[in-house]
Amino acid sequence: MIRKAPPPSQTVGDASAISARAPSFAELVEARYGRREILKGMAGAAAFAAAGPAAALADSSAAGGAAPLPAAAADELTRFPFTELVAAPDDDHHVAPGHTAQVLIRWGEPVLEDAPGFAPGAQTAAAQARQFGYNNDFVGYIPMPGAADPSAHGLLVVNHEYTNEELMFPGVARQDRKHGFQGLTAEQVAIEMAAHGGSVIEIRREGETWTVVPGSRFARRITADTPIEITGPAAGDARLRTADDTTGRLVRGMVNNCSGGVTPWGTWLSCEENFDVYFMGSTEGHPDAAALALYTVPAGDYAWGRFVDRFDVSKAPNEPNRFGWVVEIDPFHPASTPKKRTALGRLKHEAAANLTNTDGRLVVYMGDDEANQHVYRFVSTAKVDTADRAANANLLDDGALSVAIFRDDGTGTWVPLTSAEGFSATDVLINTRAAATALKATPMDRPEDVEADPRSGKVYVMLTNNKERTETDRANPRKHNTGGHIIEITPAGGDHAADSFAWDLLVLCGKPEGTRSATNPIFAPGTGDASWFANPDNCAVDHLGRLWVATDGNTPSLTQRTDGIWALETQGPARGTAKHLYAVPMGAEMCGPFFTPDDTSFFVAVQHPGEGSTFDAPSTRWPDRGSGLPPRPAVVVITRTGGGRVGT
Ligand code: FEO
Ligand code: CA
Ligand code: CA
Repeated sequence: MIRKAPPPSQTVGDASAISARAPSFAELVEARYGRREILKGMAGAAAFAAAGPAAALADSSAAGGAAPLPAAAADELTRFPFTELVAAPDDDHHVAPGHTAQVLIRWGEPVLEDAPGFAPGAQTAAAQARQFGYNNDFVGYIPMPGAADPSAHGLLVVNHEYTNEELMFPGVARQDRKHGFQGLTAEQVAIEMAAHGGSVIEIRREGETWTVVPGSRFARRITADTPIEITGPAAGDARLRTADDTTGRLVRGMVNNCSGGVTPWGTWLSCEENFDVYFMGSTEGHPDAAALALYTVPAGDYAWGRFVDRFDVSKAPNEPNRFGWVVEIDPFHPASTPKKRTALGRLKHEAAANLTNTDGRLVVYMGDDEANQHVYRFVSTAKVDTADRAANANLLDDGALSVAIFRDDGTGTWVPLTSAEGFSATDVLINTRAAATALKATPMDRPEDVEADPRSGKVYVMLTNNKERTETDRANPRKHNTGGHIIEITPAGGDHAADSFAWDLLVLCGKPEGTRSATNPIFAPGTGDASWFANPDNCAVDHLGRLWVATDGNTPSLTQRTDGIWALETQGPARGTAKHLYAVPMGAEMCGPFFTPDDTSFFVAVQHPGEGSTFDAPSTRWPDRGSGLPPRPAVVVITRTGGGRVGT
């Protein structure tokens, strides 16, 4: 969720909207496979129109070529045999039959051993800095080295993206620049800052029940005040120096940590997304005003600058340059200093999914989540050392950062940022957006999570929506795209470091009613009324290579569903078929998601339950329903009842 954005006015797949300039899906498919091939085995053009592109774009080597199967047959062929969830939106969460959803940890519960208990309405900053923070977003599970069962004992690393003062404090309305932030006290701002950042907890499963290990030596809170080192090529740059830190190498805190990743050597990558919202003041006369404006600094959506000078850009003009980075944290060493890795560029970083390439180098895929921003890739110079963990300590300080161009012919190129004319090696890292624009990178429909499936070599790009889109292209084929879509990338030769790739649209998301036409198809047949979704945000690929999508933006009044988790078939005749696994309570967004190595436990994060209401009159009191407590963001673990792989 982008805090500063108003709630979506309409969160459905719009039927408007393939521009006259852009070809329809049908035309795209026809150009790719030929009309005769597409229609083979079908009743005719009408059937194609009804079936949608996802099936038509399905594995063309499958029997019957690209012809979509009737709904029932497609359903039978899915690799997701579970009975899907059918749920009406309400104040509770819901999981598909045959599964169990257990709340693992919620806002305000102790993380550090000496943390006090949750005291709603009487929170203190000192308590919050030792308790589980607000708005859990990314969740990563890292097995405990030497564990008898690596899927039953590990560390959970969790981002705390942002805070909702109207849900955290009694008698407080949503604050913003228009209202001058006068409703918040210095202590409440300190609580907000302590509720940001991240948590490390140790967890264990006994039978089917997961619990947090109390007093773990790994337990850690990182907040908006924790000292963090700035490393890599841009560290020490004059634009990163402030009165508090004349070296440009040490910043306090990380903010708006949205999604992230876990590296092969077991560190946590935590991504700073909408850092602009914490800065107030004016950039008038600022030497980098134009560069800051590209990141909409100062957006001024938080009261922090009233009490903490470094969040007032008039007083600390370079402080915003010290945010918008990927932070690497070693969860096994709680006293270690986290590191902002400048080599991965400065963006509104959504996530940092990564994998070891066939040549041994680390490849990190990243989205810059704002309308018309871009998809990025980092390739390390050094190879991942699988034998010596410490040898990877600075692997993320040296590598090549590239941005994606998606061509209308279904091919694409990764363009190195350093090739941008007039930009120095550090310019492209600090002002990454300007360099990408100079390179004519493709403006996308809000790139959120990007995940690779190391088995198939495919890479999935979640594009959540773009209500600002007025010009379309084949990779972003809908004007005023309210439903979002998913793109599949195939690196050339299976090499994630290759300069070129092929791409396909996997699904166009949103409400299908009235929109199943040849020019705006949505999901494959077999995707039933409960099964479609809008606004893909985060995703996970399980160890069978199955794709799971978490959403942000489904609105019950428009979509008759809350956000949640959907399985999405990517292969064979059922490609493009979705199935509903989990639904969040009213007002929440779905984050996480992350599997244990054996896929028997699936961690998801319920973010901002009750958003749109207040502490005093919440639309839900989940997960402590009936207790009088406020709604509390919480991490949930989904298991198959009685054991087994989730989603089977
Ligand atoms: Fe924090 Fe782009 O979602
Ligand atoms: Ca989002
Ligand atoms: Ca997100």
